[in-house]
Amino acid sequence: MTLEPPSEEPTARAPLERESRTVDRAAKWLRNNIKRATPGNTESTPPTPDSTESTPQHRLIVGGLWDTIGPLQFEFIKGRGLEPHHRFLDIGCGALRGGAHFIDYLEPGGYHGIDRDELTLQAGREQELAPGVEEAKRPTFIVRDDFDFSRFGTTFDFALAQSVFTHLYLNSIHRALVNVSSVLADGGVFYATFFENTQGPTWLEPIVQWPGDEMMKVAPMTTMDADPFHYEFEALEWLAGLAGLRATYVGDWGHPRNQRMAMFDRVG
Ligand SMILES: C[S@@+](CC[C@H](N)C(=O)[O-])C[C@H]1O[C@@H](n2cnc3c(N)ncnc32)[C@H](O)[C@@H]1O
Repeated sequence: MTLEPPSEEPTARAPLERESRTVDRAAKWLRNNIKRATPGNTESTPPTPDSTESTPQHRLIVGGLWDTIGPLQFEFIKGRGLEPHHRFLDIGCGALRGGAHFIDYLEPGGYHGIDRDELTLQAGREQELAPGVEEAKRPTFIVRDDFDFSRFGTTFDFALAQSVFTHLYLNSIHRALVNVSSVLADGGVFYATFFENTQGPTWLEPIVQWPGDEMMKVAPMTTMDADPFHYEFEALEWLAGLAGLRATYVGDWGHPRNQRMAMFDRVG
């Protein structure tokens, strides 16, 4: 089960054809996910109060709740010490739900976003950033799916993966953590959200992530081996250790769909 539309590799197709394929892809994804929206539901599942027919597809694709989860992630990282002069890495930046806030706040050149979905990112750049912002703030964007953050050619004071680990197998999280470890600046910190397995490591059944999304009257249902995934914090802690990182449980940070927060920094 996947709650994201399949990403497409960049192609040399004409823009119009690509656009119509995107709409088809998003419509198919919406149909499939609306059907199974109860009780399974994650951040990537419409409908929500801001996920109406008039809501742009790129907002729906990353899960809607645009005006809630965007400011939430920005304020959280700012509350953890982000300052305008810092270098920030937005892992799985999607359509810039959080990114638009970070770009506004950071000094020119400070924002770095990476996502595997070129079309969603492109829609965010075109529709969520005010005219002139890219020229003034010079954000850097990379489209790739291997978490090779070294391609940015810099190190980061803060990194965030908001609602990304919730869609990843553990070995992909391992890859992300190893790569994050090598691009954190001295004193740099990485935050990642995850659905928590509160039942212990031998629990194999789905978990309903109460209280979930009160506005939707349904809660996300997560599983150990299919998207959306839940993990016990100890699993993330173990992978972090393999990557030379220390994991710290942050827990509840006010996410409306019950995602928890973990913090990672370099050991030594
Ligand atoms: C639920 S969305 C969240 C987007 C954004 N963080 C936000 O809060 O709006 C998850 C994003 O992770 C991206 N993603 C998933 N796997 C990825 C990978 N291996 N590399 C880069 N991006 C990935 C998806 O394309 C999607 O845009």
